[in-house]
Amino acid sequence: MLQVSIRPGQPEDEKYIREFTATTFEWGDYVADAFPTWLKGPGDVWVAQHLERVVGVTHVHYTRNGEAWFEGIRVHPSYRRLGIGRLLTEASISGARKKGATMAFCAIDSTNEASSALARSFGFEKTEHMIEHEKTLAGHPAGGGPQNNGASHEYEIRPATPQDYPRLIDLAAQEVRFIGCNFRWRPVSLQNIAPESSEERVLVAATDSGEVFACAFMGSVWEDPPRKEGEPWCFNVDIGAVFGELPAVSALLDYAETRLWGHGSKAKRGLENGPEVGREAELRIFVYTGQSQNSLSSYLLSRGFTVFSGLTCGAKAGIGIWSRVL
Ligand SMILES: CC(C)(COP(=O)(O)OP(=O)(O)OC[C@H]1O[C@@H](n2cnc3c(N)ncnc32)[C@H](O)[C@@H]1OP(=O)(O)O)[C@@H](O)C(=O)NCCC(=O)NCCS
Repeated sequence: MLQVSIRPGQPEDEKYIREFTATTFEWGDYVADAFPTWLKGPGDVWVAQHLERVVGVTHVHYTRNGEAWFEGIRVHPSYRRLGIGRLLTEASISGARKKGATMAFCAIDSTNEASSALARSFGFEKTEHMIEHEKTLAGHPAGGGPQNNGASHEYEIRPATPQDYPRLIDLAAQEVRFIGCNFRWRPVSLQNIAPESSEERVLVAATDSGEVFACAFMGSVWEDPPRKEGEPWCFNVDIGAVFGELPAVSALLDYAETRLWGHGSKAKRGLENGPEVGREAELRIFVYTGQSQNSLSSYLLSRGFTVFSGLTCGAKAGIGIWSRVL
């Protein structure tokens, strides 16, 4: 039997992780870049070591409400199916129990059979199915940004304040079970509703009288440099949850598109540092809807979004949110 030890991650492990995750998915992987941030954060980082080499990694993030979010599990391609994913998951579960978590969650791409089977073997069940919608904003900002469909005039878009939180819980309860962005979700609850990091914005659409009609969880704009010669530089923004009355949701989407547009425009004018200066950028917006949000999904399609097929395709496209009691 292979001698593998599971231990907390340390900075020297990054080089191994970078090497064995370089081609995890067709688009690459984010785990090696996230690893140093994970180490500095309050979550648990577990690595699997064989001889001198690190051959597996995973991270557990904790929500304000104390739920455990399992993410970024990776096993070196030459070491798969040897029980390492199982050992990393066991470490995650016992670490989360020690921290007092009573529920664990994770997101798995619907076509990822290996990861789904691993989660199932630990008693995780799929509790939500998120559909990923994508839109590339056409053209480039020469003449004032995206079309305004009129909805934005009626609403002020602003960050949510604690006074808004009970109203957001009411709005969310009718439509979504999970909130968050950038591929990390948490169950809807009063403790979880505030932004979890500086990367996340919780925005509301409110009328002049101050009444809130919709809410969006929006990530900060992230950049995808070209992977191959000739590919565009991409700026992306992710809305992991959006809910409320449709005209107000529409105003939030207008806001997100305008913001993304501004970012691309700034880069084109050479105001950003880096190789993208002066280049045309592709602007992409991702919006996730839960399984009770069919009408929002239809609205997104009418607004020029498509169901994202970058990682997956076909009827099974989407992301499962799995959960289990700890
Ligand atoms: C998912 C992953 C971490 C599993 O790691 P692993 O070390 O190979 O998993 P294990 O050997 O511990 O497998 C444990 C159980 O998971 C299931 N499983 C793992 N790989 C599987 C596969 N390819 N097909 C079907 N079931 C699989 C089986 O139930 C397995 O038990 P068994 O071998 O007794 O049948 C690994 O395949 C990987 O790194 N994949 C790429 C990254 C990824 O997709 N991460 C998850 C993103 S959500």
